Amino acid sequence: MRRYIEDIWRKVSIRHGFLEVDGPTFEYLDLYKVKSGDEIVSQLFHFDSREDKSGRTDTFALRPEFTPTLARMVAAKANSLPRPIKWFSIPRCYRAERQQKGRLKEFIQWNADMLGGETPEVRRQFDLETAALALDCLREFGLTNADIQLRWNDRTLVEHLFELGGVAKERYAFAFYLLDRIAKLSSEQRAKLYTENAVPDCERAFFEKLAAGQDPLQAAFWEGPGGGLGNTGGFETYASAIRDTQQTVESTFALMGLPGYAKYDASIVRGLAYYTGFVWEISDFRGNRALAGGGRYDKLIAMFGGPSLPATGFGMGDVVLAIVLAESGKLPKSVAAAPDVYVVNALATSDEATKLLAQLRTAGLAAVTSYKATKNIGKLLQDASASGAKLALILAPAEFEKGVVKLKNLATRDEKEIPITEVLAGIAIGGYMDSYSRSFLQTAATR
Ligand code: HAM
Repeated sequence: MRRYIEDIWRKVSIRHGFLEVDGPTFEYLDLYKVKSGDEIVSQLFHFDSREDKSGRTDTFALRPEFTPTLARMVAAKANSLPRPIKWFSIPRCYRAERQQKGRLKEFIQWNADMLGGETPEVRRQFDLETAALALDCLREFGLTNADIQLRWNDRTLVEHLFELGGVAKERYAFAFYLLDRIAKLSSEQRAKLYTENAVPDCERAFFEKLAAGQDPLQAAFWEGPGGGLGNTGGFETYASAIRDTQQTVESTFALMGLPGYAKYDASIVRGLAYYTGFVWEISDFRGNRALAGGGRYDKLIAMFGGPSLPATGFGMGDVVLAIVLAESGKLPKSVAAAPDVYVVNALATSDEATKLLAQLRTAGLAAVTSYKATKNIGKLLQDASASGAKLALILAPAEFEKGVVKLKNLATRDEKEIPITEVLAGIAIGGYMDSYSRSFLQTAATR
């Protein structure tokens, strides 16, 4: 299953022009502090190094995500890398979360990121190209806009919303944190957070409207307490900025052949602290956790000592993906690679089978045998069919005496006797040696 998922992630990344990179499994703990946000830091598995000669220790953490590592690596080399930088990676990640459906302590996360972009238009194009890569990949797994949806927002638009709601600038970080969780928090939990963060009543009233699901795109939201500056007409510029972005997102996805996948959603702000602009998540309609999430993080490379380099990207985990594929019936029945040839050995010893297997494998074929004691060809052929092999090579005493083997196409049940020397000679023909040639097998099977 893991290989099936990884193979598709890799294939689609390459199709979109991304280059595979890798990084270390653990980093200095400090790399994740501040840059990722409190939630992820509370989920770190960390450990201390042995004391050095001066009694000093370093604290490391297993990577909970790849973005800080990517930012560190890009910051170190930014000026020598061709732009735009288009990197993908498939790291194992670790988060000390409570284990639940869709959340494990260890998982694999496909990351794809695009860095660069000189104008806001090009940067928006990069936002949408990375999001389209995630959607294209999910389509490759068989999921369509009837199964999944990409919900997006823009943190600059959310800041505009906070401004209209009269939220003080120093509480924006708290406001993002709150908004990311607001649907899951009880009124008691929200009240506790307001007190802890000294949130004044007028701001509380604004947040409570959001918590109640009132729509800030409607004039009614801005009436009464918590209406902030919105009722002075300011909300119209906010609403038209959203409509403009919506128009760009929808028309670009349509051009990319992905109509009907994207939807604006004011509640998407993303939990990680480094996002600065366009943010999005892809979820299925069955109510599972997000399959993927990402967005723009324009300040992170500079925070790691690199140049000011705009960046955008996403992460998609294997755990939720496997659940969604299974629940929507999109998992292939078998993800194990079937053998090309199954050697059915009915001879008294295994020597000939051993020799044949070695020759087939040297020629690049996936070749197996059963190692069973029985010489009953019918029973052995049942095993061959169950293995999913395309061909069976039958070593039967009477034929072997005459120097021939039976080659059976297990799909069509066609059978041919061929000289044992010809099977091997056929396999050794040039061209076939280089590529994993199924057509040779078909030719051989029908020869
Ligand atoms: P994230 O939203 O924390 O973003 O994770 C992205 C995806 O990784 C989630 O949607 C989920 O599929 C998977 N995931 C996260 N935690 C777990 C877990 N404990 N168990 C199983 N799957 C999990 C990031 O990590 C960002 N660094 C993504 C990014 C890359 N943004 C820009 N570039």
